[in-house]
Amino acid sequence: MNPQQAPASPAGKRPAPPCTLVIFGAGGDLTKRLLMPALYNLAVDSLLDDGMKIIGVNHGARETSEWRDDLHKSLEQFAADKASTFHAGKLDDQAWDWVAQRLEYMAGEFETDDTFAQIKQKLEQTPGGNVIFYLAVSSRFFEPIVERLGNAGLLKEGDVGGFRRLVIEKPFGSDLASARDLNAHILSFAKETQVYRIDHFLGKDTVQSILAVRFANALFEPIWRREYIDSVQITASETIGVEGRGKFYEQTGAFRDMVPNHLFQLLGMVAMEPPNSFDAEAVRDRKAEIFDAIKPLTPDDVVFGQYEKGPAGVGYREEPDVAPDSTTETYAAARVFVENWRWAGVPFYLRTGKRLAGRRTEISVQLKPVPFRLFRDTPVDALTPNVLTLRIDPAHGTSFDFNVKTPGPVMQIGAVQSSFDYGDFFAERANVGYETLLYDCMLGDETLFQRADSIETSWCAVDDVLHPESGGAMPVHGYPAGSEGPAEADALLARGGHAWRPLQRDVVEKK
Ligand code: BG6
Repeated sequence: MNPQQAPASPAGKRPAPPCTLVIFGAGGDLTKRLLMPALYNLAVDSLLDDGMKIIGVNHGARETSEWRDDLHKSLEQFAADKASTFHAGKLDDQAWDWVAQRLEYMAGEFETDDTFAQIKQKLEQTPGGNVIFYLAVSSRFFEPIVERLGNAGLLKEGDVGGFRRLVIEKPFGSDLASARDLNAHILSFAKETQVYRIDHFLGKDTVQSILAVRFANALFEPIWRREYIDSVQITASETIGVEGRGKFYEQTGAFRDMVPNHLFQLLGMVAMEPPNSFDAEAVRDRKAEIFDAIKPLTPDDVVFGQYEKGPAGVGYREEPDVAPDSTTETYAAARVFVENWRWAGVPFYLRTGKRLAGRRTEISVQLKPVPFRLFRDTPVDALTPNVLTLRIDPAHGTSFDFNVKTPGPVMQIGAVQSSFDYGDFFAERANVGYETLLYDCMLGDETLFQRADSIETSWCAVDDVLHPESGGAMPVHGYPAGSEGPAEADALLARGGHAWRPLQRDVVEKK
């Protein structure tokens, strides 16, 4: 984009340094759905350097022009689709042209040395340059690609500048042993500071805002502890099914797909101690302490479910690429305790699932009841508990449930809700969440990326669920497609005197 015509970068943001972004998996869904919209948005904000290049590697011969046209077409489709995260409306042609001019397609197999020799040749044209290798590929290619990058000398950083960074998507391993092996493998070719392990939840503004709500307000932190907090619910429920990802899902299941990564990340943000600064290591150290303090889950702390035919459609077993007798879970709920001074005894209830009654990713922090009955005829336990809900998706904002006197001559208590919606205060952008992550990676800021130790402690906390000591597998309970989940998940909370917040609620949610 011509700098004269380009909009100014958002306040306080400097353009990223020049770099070449090599995307393995150029023809994949992630590149189309998330990376390209994110690069486009960064271009709109003038946060990319004019010297940037984007090389897309994929098997299958193709002209660069074909790849560009394909990406443009899908970008336009997403921009026009109201249901898409990237609902930008009409594209800014200048910003797209800026990105398009920098795209180059390269045909190459991920497990062939020749591919890496070719990449090397291309990179030699910009000697000493910065390079990011983005692994937007199936996890089975992580090791072969990193190994070949390492062997070809492509991960060696120059003495005078010139960074080499690796971005790795989830799933990062499928249990503790495989995550350890993968970390060890990667770290035998690259330094930890070169590795950017992505959890896309951390790219969401509403997730980053958890720390802002906690640490930029005097109101919350004093009560953010066991003395005042009764319980915390972390929900990531979806109404969609497996959406053609049957093959992947059959091997992964809801628990591995969401719990030790996305939901634990939310838990970490809610439970971590205040860091001394916003330096990457300071923040990641505090979060790592939480993962380390999670009491290892046992099968007793977890409920698995699988959707069956119901109001929202067919059962999981009837989905394409799913075995007719599949026992893969499409729902998981867990009761988690963080064993430290601040959180001892406070249950964190986590749940996630496909084909549920509502789409909501949110964290509800429920406060303890008031200590005694002051209002005539209103028993303390009949008062609606105070709940602060941090809404991550699709509504963006917060809400707070509290009690007031109802109008009229009698002193009666009524429950009300006060809420804040991002859209009422800020112009919401069609961000896909990868903007910040890509930009931070270019700047070398690792705050929002997973460190090897945290990945391993997270897997460690759930290892007994994945490989029960008692042998056997976790039971999987049916729930109707479009429902609130299996009854056994209600029982899990009832044991602690709690109940899930309904997924279908009468909350006015924008978006
Ligand atoms: C992905 C999971 O990591 O996160 C998907 O593999 C899930 O199964 C998705 O649907 C949810 O992310 P979001 O941002 O749409 O809530």
